[in-house]
Amino acid sequence: MTVRDEERRSALAKLVVGGVGVIIAALSGLFGVAATPRIAATTRRWRRAASMFDLSASGPTPVILSDRHQDGWYETRQQTAIFIDKDGDTGYRALSATCTHLGCRVQWDTNAKHFLCPCHGGIYDRDGHVVSGPPPRPLDRIDARLNETTGDIEVQL
Ligand code: FES
Repeated sequence: MTVRDEERRSALAKLVVGGVGVIIAALSGLFGVAATPRIAATTRRWRRAASMFDLSASGPTPVILSDRHQDGWYETRQQTAIFIDKDGDTGYRALSATCTHLGCRVQWDTNAKHFLCPCHGGIYDRDGHVVSGPPPRPLDRIDARLNETTGDIEVQL
């Protein structure tokens, strides 16, 4: 074997090792992108829930907020049910409509003047505090404010 043959073999070996390295790097990048779960954008923001003129005088007003989530070609909609109510003379409050026991949607009972969970009979007062039944804690409170320019009640979700 001549010196020139040795140089060719060495150059060929370097070329093969370099090529394999490039292929491995490309595949690992591809698998890394595919295997990494997409981090959901959970940004809370103020959003319009209702007009102050739409609120009922007889009790909390139910509102359904809808969000669209796009993940590539896959699109989903998530709905959040809340209640908006006056809080004192000038304030507003928002309560989640999700029962804190097992997550059923509570309803406002206009005659009895309390929230009633249809699943296991949990009862909450108008402020969201547990009156009776299995719920372990009050309804979740959501930050709410009045947009004085538009007259809209905004909530932070
Ligand atoms: Fe509401 Fe059980 S889910 S009381």
